[in-house]
Amino acid sequence: MFATADLAGTKPEQYAQLLSQARALVAGEPDRIANAANLSALVYHALPQLNWVGFYFYDGTELVVGPFQGLPACVRIPLDKGVCGAAARSGRTQRVDDVDAFDGHIACDSASRSELVVPLRAGDELIGVFDIDSPVTHRFDADDQAGLEAIAECFLAACLAERVA
Ligand code: SME
Repeated sequence: MFATADLAGTKPEQYAQLLSQARALVAGEPDRIANAANLSALVYHALPQLNWVGFYFYDGTELVVGPFQGLPACVRIPLDKGVCGAAARSGRTQRVDDVDAFDGHIACDSASRSELVVPLRAGDELIGVFDIDSPVTHRFDADDQAGLEAIAECFLAACLAERVA
């Protein structure tokens, strides 16, 4: 059974603890569906004020929804659409304080008010995105971005291990 310890201390300290839990979850497991599912569940239950946490994977044409926690979501997102498309296209994390002010935001869950999307890349190759939504505006600051980018890196490292295995 997986038991999470409550996160404590400053925000960076809490993210360091969350990263340790993430590393423990994916340790020795190269399957990307399994790891995406468990990391979605870990983050969704560990952090406050979230309504959707999950992965979209690039199928060579567009982003296709993968494992997640939250309400059912849009299945396919073209690279020229939404916050997810912007992250995938640019290769840069998109931190959106108010989704209503983001031109082209896709409202899968009408409760979402702010969003952070981390691109997942292996070198030049687009793997997908890691998407975290909140029902409050301005939910994500620089510490959240750094912490969630580290979780995304942890996921990618596990995926890449699958390739060399
Ligand atoms: N809001 C995203 C779509 C995915 S959902 O948030 C799960 C976007 O604009 O790309």
